[in-house]
Amino acid sequence: TKKIILDCDPGHDDAVALLLAHGNPEIELLAVTTVVGNQTLPKVTRNALSVARVAGITGVPFAAGAARPLVRNIEVAPDIHGESGLDGPVLPEPEIELDSRHAIDLIIDTIMAHEPGTVTLVPTGGLTNIAMAARKEPRIVERVKEVVLMGGGYHVGNWSAVAEFNIKIDPEAAHIVFNETWPVVMVGLDLTHQALATDEVAAQIAAVGTKPAKFVGELLDFFALAYKDAQGFDAPPVHDPCAVAYVIDPTIVKTVKVPIDIELTGTLTLGMTVADFRAEAPDDCTTWAATELDAPRFWNLVTEALENIGEV
Ligand code: BDR
Ligand code: CA
Repeated sequence: TKKIILDCDPGHDDAVALLLAHGNPEIELLAVTTVVGNQTLPKVTRNALSVARVAGITGVPFAAGAARPLVRNIEVAPDIHGESGLDGPVLPEPEIELDSRHAIDLIIDTIMAHEPGTVTLVPTGGLTNIAMAARKEPRIVERVKEVVLMGGGYHVGNWSAVAEFNIKIDPEAAHIVFNETWPVVMVGLDLTHQALATDEVAAQIAAVGTKPAKFVGELLDFFALAYKDAQGFDAPPVHDPCAVAYVIDPTIVKTVKVPIDIELTGTLTLGMTVADFRAEAPDDCTTWAATELDAPRFWNLVTEALENIGEV
């Protein structure tokens, strides 16, 4: 199995990522941590606990992390995720309690308690917690198997012409994460804009027929309207579960090894993930960019996870 820590800001697509991680038998979910992003920290944390109840997740520690980015002011995304951060379905009262540790301590403790090279970090929000954890306990950098993050892109942005939301809201944190020596797989917009929840996909999920599947259907209905209004998409891109899918089965997500760095000073390009495709990546390159998604197999993974979760 693949041991992961999911660091997220639910968020519609973060919720689907959590359901996929929980429902897929290849994944062992060691911990879930939250970070300010799509909404404020209290909101995304409550959402994470609520989704845990929907999915029937028990026995996995959940901890809250950074309430603001390292340097910048808080930027949330109500146009995409609503005022709650997870608008659409009714969110049930959480049943599990938060771990008393700060997210960065839960991340550090979890990595240090497992064999080197066995834990994958899967950040699907801003990189504040991950950067802080690397600074607080540098030994995690060598111990982590890889960082498979949703964020960035080498072609288009969604929070500016060239920057993606998760990177743009805390570019300094992203700079730390991309410049550490651990392997980083950037599952960016080039890839996630291929994960579109079309009507066909919605029908496939609805056919599962359980309460958790209905919950995902309601999430995707809201997400579709928001993405149509805010960014003109005919079907919404469901970004975050793509990172989980890569961990489950890397043959679903094609990647290319390429040096990637984060723009911190550009007036028009702040938070851009600058990928250097001019030559073949040098041997010491530790960054990869996701390029191509096998969308049918990706949606099958999501559907199968919901089937495995069953009725909760
Ligand atoms: C990313 O931003 C958030 O709104 C989504 O949850 C996803 O992680 C896409 O740019
Ligand atoms: Ca997210």
